[in-house]
Amino acid sequence: MANKILTHSSGQEGILAKRELPMDETPEILSLRPGTLADYIGQLEVVETLEIAISAAKKRAEPLDHVLFHGPPGLGKTTLAHIIANEMGGSLTITSGPALEKGGDLIGILTHLSEGDVLFVDEIHRTPKAVEEFLYPAMEDFAVDFVFDKGVHARSHRFRLNRFTLVGATTRVGLLSAPLRDRFGIFRSLDFYNEADLVTIARRSAALLGVTIEADGAAELARRSRGTPRIVNRLLKRVRDYAQVRADGVVSQAAVVRSLALEGVDEMGLTTLDRRYIETVIRFYSGGPVGIEAIAATLQEETDTLVDVVEPYLLKIGFITRTSSGRRASEAACRHLSIACRKDPLFERKG
Ligand code: ADE
Repeated sequence: MANKILTHSSGQEGILAKRELPMDETPEILSLRPGTLADYIGQLEVVETLEIAISAAKKRAEPLDHVLFHGPPGLGKTTLAHIIANEMGGSLTITSGPALEKGGDLIGILTHLSEGDVLFVDEIHRTPKAVEEFLYPAMEDFAVDFVFDKGVHARSHRFRLNRFTLVGATTRVGLLSAPLRDRFGIFRSLDFYNEADLVTIARRSAALLGVTIEADGAAELARRSRGTPRIVNRLLKRVRDYAQVRADGVVSQAAVVRSLALEGVDEMGLTTLDRRYIETVIRFYSGGPVGIEAIAATLQEETDTLVDVVEPYLLKIGFITRTSSGRRASEAACRHLSIACRKDPLFERKG
């Protein structure tokens, strides 16, 4: 894998930290990532869209159109940015909206991109407005406009950039401004993975890690991974540790059940935070409706964490609903936690 990765984040006192990581020296989580679209499991329509767009761009010897990925964390947005750079034969520069504090941060990155390179901006909805405005001409005309001096002496100079591809990732597409959203030629939402795909990912990752996994073990792991490949890979490593220390090293169903009980992950893949969230809505707020700020305050968690990390899967499995008046817990959620529901006439007594 030839592509070079550059990461960028804001450092102390505004100093920019830049690292160059050759692909083979990056942490293990990267090595579990597929490097090509052919190796990518699931998200078939997204993969097909990208295959077509990449082949066409290569045929025309042009850079790929800018791509926006939307979806909950861990579903493959960053992985696809790596793959796009790889398939297009360019280098990948990684940054994020919050790391781009000033226009100069972005200009520094843009002016260092070569023809065909990929710039990945994670959490692009959190890019400051002043920085975002430099993105418009960069995306549309491959140029940045510098303004020298102020008032009557103001002069503008246009600096040409090499043609690059911007890959943006967001968990909240609704927070993206229309001018930015409209400048992406390709926009795809990533959905939670089905269990069959998660089983295949678990088997692939186990093979890469050199650990034996049984069919029942892979299925149990898939059921407990909240539809998310990143969680499959993280839990697989915990089960591997457990199996190597407390069992025969094989990822069996029993090893998955026992090790994930220690991790606080239940049979539906819910974590301690997921369960605390549901319990709060049911016990503190009588099942809802309740505003997210109130839930966050009770749990002493960041609202963004709840909205981006906890809620998407609970919504997907129908454990909560979001209405204009707030969040509600469903009967299925009550049953899962063995708490009586409000609809149940015994709610007050049992709850
Ligand atoms: N590892 C993490 N996500 C993956 C995916 N979608 N396909 C293959 N391996 C993966």
